[in-house]
Amino acid sequence: ETLQERSLEAVAEYIKSGDARRIVVLTGAGISTAAGIPDFRSPKTGLYSNLARLKLPYAEAVFDIAYFRNRPEPFYVLAQELYPGKFQPTVSHAFIALLAQKGLLQMLFTQNIDCLERAAGVPSDKIVEAHGSFATQRCIECKVEFPDDHMRKHVLRGDVPRCKECKGLVKPDITFFGEALPRAFSEKSHNTVMADLVLIIGTSLTVYPFASLPDMARQKAPRVLFNMEKVGSLGSRVDDVLELGSCDNGIRKLAGLLGWTDELEDLWRN
Ligand code: OAD
Repeated sequence: ETLQERSLEAVAEYIKSGDARRIVVLTGAGISTAAGIPDFRSPKTGLYSNLARLKLPYAEAVFDIAYFRNRPEPFYVLAQELYPGKFQPTVSHAFIALLAQKGLLQMLFTQNIDCLERAAGVPSDKIVEAHGSFATQRCIECKVEFPDDHMRKHVLRGDVPRCKECKGLVKPDITFFGEALPRAFSEKSHNTVMADLVLIIGTSLTVYPFASLPDMARQKAPRVLFNMEKVGSLGSRVDDVLELGSCDNGIRKLAGLLGWTDELEDLWRN
């Protein structure tokens, strides 16, 4: 069964019909900008256009493993700003938790390292942190884990932690450019192939292999983009829906069409 028209209304009907049982959600930095965390590539406000003070050879160097080995300080300047603990989940994060509560969330793939999906209540077995997170850290040389409380102290002071065993650099288990993605990414990506519906929220879809996930969805699985701008191949399939603008607005619109507004706002506030 395919949708008759590309509209958010049709997507809501599809969910209400009970046929969209396996919903896959793909997120990027845009889902967290309303929480006060800058994204990477938005002109003017994105991190990459505001890194001049770090004197990087190119903006993405701050997350490049080869660069980090020689100059870890710029990353730790950013880490101090971005460290989890001071930000609250957005209503879009809460919507993903609501999908999980309703048994409709097949899997969430996030590129974000802010841990806000966990904070919103998405169960950890439904989350694939495709680019890792700040949750754990280890020595880049001997790979020995570094204690969380020590990490927190270093990051909040803005200084570079060193391994207690070998004095190597300690780095959060965030996937840097030049590193492999966590194994869970490839192990769980088949969930996208099985999806009845794919929701894509706040990502420019510029970094691979994550950016290839939307194209793994079956042709008959509608793909809905909640983003400021059109990205990737979204809009090229008859059942694609483009909900352009703030994702919180788009998500609230979908929740309204589903009759979930009160539940969503309650979940978000508590
Ligand atoms: P980007 O900064 O590349 O893209 C964010 C997208 O979200 C853009 O298309 C924005 O227009 C959109 N956006 C921003 N605020 C929004 C809002 N309130 N509502 C809706 N859309 C909004 O971020 P990512 O796609 O997540 O990797 O970037 C991918 C990867 O590149 C990151 O995981 C990071 C980065 O380098 C690593 O650090 C390894």
